[in-house]
Amino acid sequence: MKSTLRSAVWIALLTGLAGCGGSSGDGPAMAAATVKGDAARGEQLYQQCAACHSLQQNGAGPMHCQLFGRPAGTVPDFEYSQAMRDSGLVWDAQTLDEFLTSPITYVSGTKMGFAGFSDAGDRADVIAYLHQANNDPATCPAS
Ligand code: HEC
Repeated sequence: MKSTLRSAVWIALLTGLAGCGGSSGDGPAMAAATVKGDAARGEQLYQQCAACHSLQQNGAGPMHCQLFGRPAGTVPDFEYSQAMRDSGLVWDAQTLDEFLTSPITYVSGTKMGFAGFSDAGDRADVIAYLHQANNDPATCPAS
């Protein structure tokens, strides 16, 4: 029983990694951008996001599961700004890094009331945390 469980987790991990590197054709760059952060530290920083966001449910902000590869402004049942819907962005490590530097200037007219992280290390860490959470079926079950 125990070993069945462990191999199930292992397979989930492997599929998660394969899905991350292989899906969009920009594999190496994206992998490099996503592994450089410290996910454990990012989890602490995510407390600042958690005022409005959670992984699995919409709140003041849209849910963050299934974030990577998602076109901006497309979570069902969330009232986005027109600016976010029209942004044409697709979320990956790079667009998240640019957005989180200064949300209100990157998506002019966004209703996300968060000043951003000026520190590149903070951004890398929170993105690493989001990436790890998205690849963990315990925090983000496949929809
Ligand atoms: C004060 C509330 C608030 C805080 C704090 C906040 N957000 Fe947001 N966030 C929002 C709202 C509201 C939106 C929807 C924006 C829009 O429609 O213009 C949003 C949108 C987003 C999106 C786009 C999601 C999508 O589905 O297109 C991302 C990514 C995001 N936030 C990440 C973060 C991260 C990471 C943090 C912490 C560093 C954070 N947010 C902090 C309120 C917040």
